[in-house]
Parts: sequence; structure tokens; C-alpha cells
Amino acid sequence: MKVGAILLAAGKGIRANLNVPKQFIEINGREMWEYPFEIAYRISKVEDIIIVTLGEWVKHIEEKVGCKRKKSVTVIEGGDKRQESVYNALKFMSDRDIDVVAIHDTARPMVSKDNFIDCINMAIKYSACTVVSEVVDTMVIVQNDSIEDIAPRSVLYHVQTPQCFQFDVIWRAHNNARENHNVYTDDATLVLKELSMDIKIVKGSRLNIKVTSSEDIELVKYLMSRK
Ligand code: CTP
Ligand code: MG
Repeated sequence: MKVGAILLAAGKGIRANLNVPKQFIEINGREMWEYPFEIAYRISKVEDIIIVTLGEWVKHIEEKVGCKRKKSVTVIEGGDKRQESVYNALKFMSDRDIDVVAIHDTARPMVSKDNFIDCINMAIKYSACTVVSEVVDTMVIVQNDSIEDIAPRSVLYHVQTPQCFQFDVIWRAHNNARENHNVYTDDATLVLKELSMDIKIVKGSRLNIKVTSSEDIELVKYLMSRK
């Protein structure tokens, strides 16, 4: 059973509005993308790591991971949309005999190693799995600036990453999506919609936030300093 990981770092971070893409911001001595990279690197099952980034940042990452020689780490260029970045990595992986792949946003530096491993194991067993977190607020449906109804919170979850799949499943789903010109913001919903497959969940922490705005970086800095 060969497990690979795709670490996504090809976004431009428009909403964070910083002078570098958010995944390259230094947080307590390390760049954001290095935290999930270290986690994937330390999971013994993960043999092959593909980091997808912007063309002008490929060399920067290659230099930083240069000394990591115990497992295969490759840096490749992403695409304009997240889905294209994932596709490029899957294409690269398609002749590397990978059985299961974990896909993770480097904009989620707080991910736990346990959740990463649990998600991989669920995909080994059931084909497709995503980490989710529980919704804690009351959720409502708003129409025309007024509350129309209460959403049933007990069945609502936030979709996070990592998301893990058997390789042939995610590869087929991405190729279908491309053919049909369907665009998704994550891979679990892509597989659900394109292949109507059962997607298992691993309940993770609410702290596995996706850094989106500049305030999120302050929050992550604070949370990490308390670890
Ligand atoms: N991502 C990627 N390739 C893209 C777009 C996004 O690899 N073309 C990655 C980001 O680097 C991030 C994850 O997908 O790790 C989630 O994307 P998001 O939070 O939207 O990041 P950005 O696209 O960089 O931010 P924004 O949408 O504000 O520009
Ligand atoms: Mg984006």
C-alpha cells in the first residue's frame, strides 16, 4: 500500500492581502506551509510528497526541503484554480503507483498528525474520507436580509482538509469534472458529485482553521505560541 500526499501551496492569497502569498508568511520561526509539510513528512506511511506551488516559488520550496532526503519530495507548479493545482499533482502522481493520496491545504497549518493518519486509514478502508469539524453556532437560513428558518445544526459540519482517497477514485473524479467543466472548491464534494460515492468523515478540531484573512494569521500565531 503506497500512500502519497499532495500539499497545496499554489494560491495567491488575495483575501489575506499580504506582500507574499499567505502560505509563505513566517509564523513563530517557520513558514506556514512548513507545518503541514513536517507533519506529512513525519508520517511513516506517507512515502511520496508532492508540493504544488506558484511557478516563482518552486525554487524557494525546493531549497527549504533540500536536506529532506529520507522520502521522495517533489515541488511542481500549480494552476489558476485550486482544482487545477490538484489535477496537476494527480497527473504527476499517475505513473508513480500510488494507492492512496491525502490532499491538504497548506493554508491549514494547525492540522493534527492524528487526524491526518486517521483520514488516510479511512481512505485505505473505505475509498474516500474528509476531515470535518462540528458546527457550534446556531445556523440559520437567511433570505432578503431576514431569518427565514433554523438549519438543523446536528447534521451540519465544516469541511476541512486533509481529504484522502484511493488514487483511482480521485483520478477518475477529476477527469470527469474536467470533461464536464465542473469546478469545485474541495475534493470530497468533487468526488461526491462526480461519482456519487460515499465519503466518510473524521471529526477533527475546530482549530484546524483555513487561514483566509490577515487576522487569521494573528490567531494562528497566538494558538501556536501556546502549544
Ligand atoms: N490553492 C492552490 N492553487 C490555487 C488556489 C489555491 O494550491 N490555484 C491552495 C491554497 O494555496 C490553499 C488552498 O488551496 O492552501 C485553499 O485555498 P484558499 O484558502 O482559497 O487560498 P488562496 O486561493 O491562496 O486565497 P484567496 O482565495 O484569498 O486568493
Ligand atoms: Mg482561493
